Amino acid sequence: MSLNLHGRSVLALEDFTSAELRFLLDLAKELKAAKRGGFERQKLTGKNIALLFEKDSTRTRAGFEVAAYDQGAHVTYMGPSGSHMGQSETVKDTARVLGRMYDAIEFRGFAQADVEMLGRYAGVPVYNGLTDSSHPTQILADFMTMRECTHKHLSDIRFAFMGDSRNNMARSLAVGAAKLGMDLRIGAPASLRPDEKFLGGIAKICEESGGRVKFTADANAAVDGADFIYTDVWLSMGEDASHWGERIELLRPYQVNAALMAATGNPFTKFMHCLPSFHNADTKMGKDMKDKFGIDAMEVTDAVFESPASIVFDQAENRMHSIKAILVATLG
Ligand code: CP
Ligand code: NVA
Repeated sequence: MSLNLHGRSVLALEDFTSAELRFLLDLAKELKAAKRGGFERQKLTGKNIALLFEKDSTRTRAGFEVAAYDQGAHVTYMGPSGSHMGQSETVKDTARVLGRMYDAIEFRGFAQADVEMLGRYAGVPVYNGLTDSSHPTQILADFMTMRECTHKHLSDIRFAFMGDSRNNMARSLAVGAAKLGMDLRIGAPASLRPDEKFLGGIAKICEESGGRVKFTADANAAVDGADFIYTDVWLSMGEDASHWGERIELLRPYQVNAALMAATGNPFTKFMHCLPSFHNADTKMGKDMKDKFGIDAMEVTDAVFESPASIVFDQAENRMHSIKAILVATLG
């Protein structure tokens, strides 16, 4: 099906129909094949895209930059201290300035209200590159990767998310799964569940799509029969480090390890993570955690992360192809 997304922003998955999301996934697959086959055609020559980051990034920044360059567009990166926004200039004013110079703006930051404000006042498409409450471009890469790893239709896939189910990844996976009619089991302690308003919204989307999004505190029940197990960091960017101790205690039973992978009863279950991940103590943060809490892995063990079941680097690559689909569909 051909849909017209020209001029649209990507602020939240809630703003898209399932047909529009499938259209972007199909386009991402075509663009990936074109790049691999050496027959990619540039549709964004002469376009300028601003990349605004209030929080750091590897994949999202690289994904937008490479996607833009492949398609003939130019980018300007403004990092956490690289512009006046939020310090001496409001988001609303920044939106109206950048909108006069750029054809589109990517924003990663804290408040969802800020990306919505940019979208309202920029006059050009605005893309949400992660906020405290959502990460829509990541979900496209994840569902694209799932499609590559199974013969099943998305609506026949069952997957589990383990961890802080109030965070941006859990919420966006829930919205995406609900929209696309998937079966998502979220394994999380009751104290880390999203608010009732959000849950009501998910239930409503599921009524229309046939999707199933369920929460359980029982880790083994969450992963039963899962085609994919997904997890994310236990403390997200911007959260206070003083919460580490309490979060580790709460989420330890939800760690993705060999026993949890086996508990699916499915020998073909794949492991997914948006990254970055605490799977060993080889980073500065990993060493600090080991010194302080005596653990060398958190949400996933190194053995699962490095196992053949792990498709985390396919997800990472697909960030670029799916971001490219968004750029081509909205600006091309
Ligand atoms: N998954 C993700 O958004 O990674 P970055 O923080 O590196 O962009
Ligand atoms: N929940 C994580 C996702 C990183 C891609 C964070 O916000 O830090």
